[in-house]
Amino acid sequence: MRVFVTRDLPGRGLDRLRHEPGLHVDLWPEEFPPPRSAMLERTANAAGLLCLITDRVDADLLEHAGPQLKVVSQMAVGVDNIDVAACAARGIPVGNTPGVLTETTADLAFALLLAAARRLVEAASYVRLGQWRTWSPTTLAGADIHGATLGIIGFGAIGQALATRATGFGMRTLYWSRRQKPQAAERLGASYQDLPALLAQSDFVSVHCALTAETHHLIDADALACMPAHAILINTARGPLVDEAALIEALRNRRIAGAALDVTTTEPIEPDNPLLAMPNVIVLPHIGSASLATRTKMADLAVDNLLAGLRGQPLPHQIPPPEPRTR
Ligand code: NAP
Ligand code: GLV
Repeated sequence: MRVFVTRDLPGRGLDRLRHEPGLHVDLWPEEFPPPRSAMLERTANAAGLLCLITDRVDADLLEHAGPQLKVVSQMAVGVDNIDVAACAARGIPVGNTPGVLTETTADLAFALLLAAARRLVEAASYVRLGQWRTWSPTTLAGADIHGATLGIIGFGAIGQALATRATGFGMRTLYWSRRQKPQAAERLGASYQDLPALLAQSDFVSVHCALTAETHHLIDADALACMPAHAILINTARGPLVDEAALIEALRNRRIAGAALDVTTTEPIEPDNPLLAMPNVIVLPHIGSASLATRTKMADLAVDNLLAGLRGQPLPHQIPPPEPRTR
């Protein structure tokens, strides 16, 4: 039995797979993801696929893979690169790695909030470029975090973990989520608002929804128009949750004050993307969960899911099949 693993993994996960009796591990050893042709070729006749967010798993790939494919295990919590409905239609469970990355990703979201508010990236390059000549009352003055209002869009695990951090900094927290979460909200001192009201009242808006057909471009020109001119948008979830063209326009027209993005529409971002030329924008290379300890836990969990699927057991973390759409 063969499994295709699309990248080298931190920790002992690959060793665990290699010690599994009767299992051959077909590892893509390169730094860059397998190109489509290699994805099709190496998934064909495999019993399991362990993939990353950079790998597209669609109906065509599943068709090429053949009926022996028993499990798709993603080393990430977001699975928007996987056609979960197509997997479900073929009886293939899809695993992901929630929980273990929650705190690390919330740390990064809060780090982006702090960095954007206090202009840390601008300030550090100002020093490096030899522009620091004196102290002045307004040089690189930013926004206060304590006492400010944070609007959290998507009050799942990471959204709630961000609210915990906001409490420690004396912020007021608002949230919007598909479903209201009164118990978590009470525990975290957060209050529910509808989306336009949250956008209108927040000094910082941080996006934490899963990317789905419903949430694509959730933050569009109309949403950005609701935000106050001094507000800063933070996105550590997925790039396409934000209409990037509308964001660029809003930043150019000073409709909002800044953005701090761990994720972008195209990843890696195009070098000539206007966002990269804006001093009030921070762009990071999708490192939300990137501590070595967390990435190792994610790899372990992805291996646990893969092994369970190969054995025909329920996955420790299995994505529920999408509910049929009702009209
Ligand atoms: P989670 O606990 O499952 O939370 C997902 C959130 O998305 C929930 O608030 C959920 O709303 C909302 N949501 C899902 N489908 C929706 C829909 N159709 N309409 C509106 N809201 C919807 O997941 P998590 O662990 O917090 O992760 C959230 C996202 O962060 C992931 O999906 C992933 O894309 C991203 N992420 C990025 C990084 C990074 O490296 N930058 C790391 C980890 C995760 P309800 O609460 O109402 O169900
Ligand atoms: C990373 O982006 C994840 O979804 O885990």
